[in-house]
Amino acid sequence: GDAAGQALPVESRPFASYGSALHIALPQAPRAGQLLTLLIDYEAGEGPGVCWLSPEQTAGKQKPYMYTQGQAVLNRSFFPCFDTPSAKFTYSATVKVPEGFTAVMSATSWEKQKDNTFVFKMSQPIPSYLIALVVGDIVSADVGPRSRVWAEPCLIEAAKKEYDGVIEEFLVVGEKLFGPYVWGRYDILFMPPSFPFGGMENPCLTFVTPCLLAGDRSLVDVIIHEISHSWFGNLVTNATWGEFWLNEGFTMYAQRRISTEVYGLPYTCLEAATGRALLRQHMDATGEDHPLNKLRVVIEPGFCLFLGINPDDTYNETPYEKGYCFVSYLAHLVGNQSKFDAFLQAYVNRFKFQSITADDTLGFFLEYFPELKEKGVDSIPGFEFDRWLNTPGWPPYLPDLSPGQQLMRPADELAELWAADGLNMEAIEAVDITGWRTYQLVYFLDQVLQKSPLPEGNVKRLSKMYPKISKAQNAELRLRWCQIVLKNNLEAEYSKVKDFLQSQGKQKYTLPLYRAMWGGSEATRALAMEIFSATAPQLHVNVQNYVKKILGLGDAE
Ligand code: BES
Ligand code: ZN
Repeated sequence: GDAAGQALPVESRPFASYGSALHIALPQAPRAGQLLTLLIDYEAGEGPGVCWLSPEQTAGKQKPYMYTQGQAVLNRSFFPCFDTPSAKFTYSATVKVPEGFTAVMSATSWEKQKDNTFVFKMSQPIPSYLIALVVGDIVSADVGPRSRVWAEPCLIEAAKKEYDGVIEEFLVVGEKLFGPYVWGRYDILFMPPSFPFGGMENPCLTFVTPCLLAGDRSLVDVIIHEISHSWFGNLVTNATWGEFWLNEGFTMYAQRRISTEVYGLPYTCLEAATGRALLRQHMDATGEDHPLNKLRVVIEPGFCLFLGINPDDTYNETPYEKGYCFVSYLAHLVGNQSKFDAFLQAYVNRFKFQSITADDTLGFFLEYFPELKEKGVDSIPGFEFDRWLNTPGWPPYLPDLSPGQQLMRPADELAELWAADGLNMEAIEAVDITGWRTYQLVYFLDQVLQKSPLPEGNVKRLSKMYPKISKAQNAELRLRWCQIVLKNNLEAEYSKVKDFLQSQGKQKYTLPLYRAMWGGSEATRALAMEIFSATAPQLHVNVQNYVKKILGLGDAE
């Protein structure tokens, strides 16, 4: 309007410990429905959303690398935005990079122009946290009709081999269950080792840790998980980070539905059992009554701007696995898998491209199943929807994982044998683990960990007996082995903890190991300090700060 081209007064005001508010004074109050165009000229790069890696921090060690990680509230340091999952918008970007670099973004279309300039466009409305950019020495290879993998040149062979020909099936099953895949392509970008997550569901282009390159597709559940966000999270989005379980709980459920279709129920139950073990460990570590162990968390800053819960702190097992239990409970109420699948599809269709709260979800559930509403299933004593949402603690309902027994029982029995006082080597040697799947070994190690410390000498023998475990390169096995080493004070293998923490920076691997070291002996505490001073600069700043908290290294917060 009249103000076209006019510079406006701008001011930065305090908002929360995790960002400030940009106030722009408009010359006159806008009318409802009026189109308002603001041009904001800014520089970014200092904040936690944009990560700058030196060549040494990459796999190839030749060129620097930059990536952004928006979820939960980091993108406000990447670009000025309404950084809340309740607002959705399309975007386009023009990115100019130095010679020898490639830029990729979470966009439905992209094009390379002259002068190392890339133009991106996301034509579907998405929340701010899903905008993502990587600039690095990266190349791609096709792995399916609508999928390719991206990685540094030295990893591209391994990346292609890991997922060649397997992605499309997950997408097809997902579409069959939950409705059309609206994002066009589904590509996967293998990140540098310090990437703090297993996977991040940036639309069209999932970012994953290079730890997934296990050589045997054994960690593909992470990919199925990120694909599942294409419907739950990216299409139907939690309107506030206080209801993060709407993204992650539904995604865990969708992931396990796809997994059941592709790999069968026994295997999926085994994987779900390892998830339940993580929830148990998390609740034991934090205390069941911890306010973060509710599905609905209070984020709003209280009487003081700096005292509210940081949305990033909601990243723990509760929204994932307790959320999974709640969705499983809803399915249990329905009592028929295909009816519940149809509900999920209707739910996605009803709320696609919107941001919603749990009240919307549960209201729609009761509307969709009027006979359940009539029965008052939302207020069955002990299982009230309100209790699920607002009471911390162990889930009141657990889905039946017994179809996984055939895979879990041998692992349970073997763990039992290893926990005994006098080892029955004959019985132990009679068990052949060479054919076990990775998640069977993971499950076995979780049982061993739960029973630890084992009687003196047992873990040392276990280590010798199963080099496949104690010398594993698979990250999920390495994590558990390191936890066992620490819990049993197996000093001879402390160096493995250091090696593992030096090799990658995933938050869910890093924090449990620091907690174990800090909760252990003087020697493991010293080890924690030594490892942290050697690796801190490689870690994502959020992870750095969480480790500092564990080690009592007074973070400003
Ligand atoms: N969206 C999450 C990662 C995330 C959560 C980033 C919160 C920032 C804040 C992603 O989909 C995820 O859940 N990743 C898991 C995968 C696992 C559950 C299979 C991970 O990284 O471990
Ligand atoms: Zn997720």
